Amino acid sequence: MKKGLFITFEGADGCGKTTQLKLLSEYLTKNGHEVLLTREPGAKGLGEKIRDILLNFDGVVSDRCESFLFLADRAQHIDTIINPAINEGKIVLCDRHTDSSVAYQGFGRGLSVERINMLNDLAVNGRKPDLTFVFDIDVETSMKRVGDKKDRMESAGIEFFNRVRQGYLKIAQNEPARVKVIDASKSIDEIHAKVIEHVQEVLQNL
Ligand code: TYD
Repeated sequence: MKKGLFITFEGADGCGKTTQLKLLSEYLTKNGHEVLLTREPGAKGLGEKIRDILLNFDGVVSDRCESFLFLADRAQHIDTIINPAINEGKIVLCDRHTDSSVAYQGFGRGLSVERINMLNDLAVNGRKPDLTFVFDIDVETSMKRVGDKKDRMESAGIEFFNRVRQGYLKIAQNEPARVKVIDASKSIDEIHAKVIEHVQEVLQNL
C-alpha cells in the first residue's frame, strides 16, 4: 500500500493558497495518487459548527477562547479525518493547520507562541505535516484581494496582518526542512511549478 502524506497550505488571507491547493490536487490525482482535500477550521461535521462561530459570531470572542476553538476543531479534524486518510495511504492536502494558530493567535493576537506550540502538540497528538507551504505576499495586496466583505478574522486590521506575515516567516526560518516559503506575487503557473518541485522531492524520499 502507498504511504500517506500530509501537506499543509499556509499564508495570510488572500494569498492564493486555496487555488494552489486545488491545482496540486488535480496534478496528484492525474499522477495516480489518492488525494484528500480538507481545511481548518471546519472540514465537515462538528468542525463546520466551530467554523461558523469562529468566522461569524458577532459578539465578544476572547483571544484565548478563539485559540481553543481553533484547537478543538484541529483535534477533531486530526482524529476523525486526517489520520484515517493518511493511514489509508492518501495524500492529505490541508488548507491551514497548526502554523495558522502560531501566526494568527501567537504573532497576530500576541499570545505566547511557546504556549500555542504546546497546545498544538496536544491537539495533533504526534501528527506533523511532512511538508508545509507558506504563500508569502505583502499585506496591501492580500487585503485588496480579500475585498470589502470581510469575516470576523479578516477584519482584524493591517497591523495584525503584518504581524501574521512576520510570524509565518519566523516559523519558516525555524523549520526550513518542513516549511517552504513561496513568493505568492508570482503568476499562478509559476507558483504551481514551484509547489510541484517541492512535492516531488518529498515523494522521492518517501
Ligand atoms: P477562511 O475563510 O478559511 O480563510 P482562508 O481562505 O484565508 O484560509 O477562514 C479561516 C480564518 O481563520 C483565517 O482568517 C485564518 C484564521 N485562522 C486562525 O486565526 N487560526 C487558526 O488556527 C486557523 C486554522 C485559522
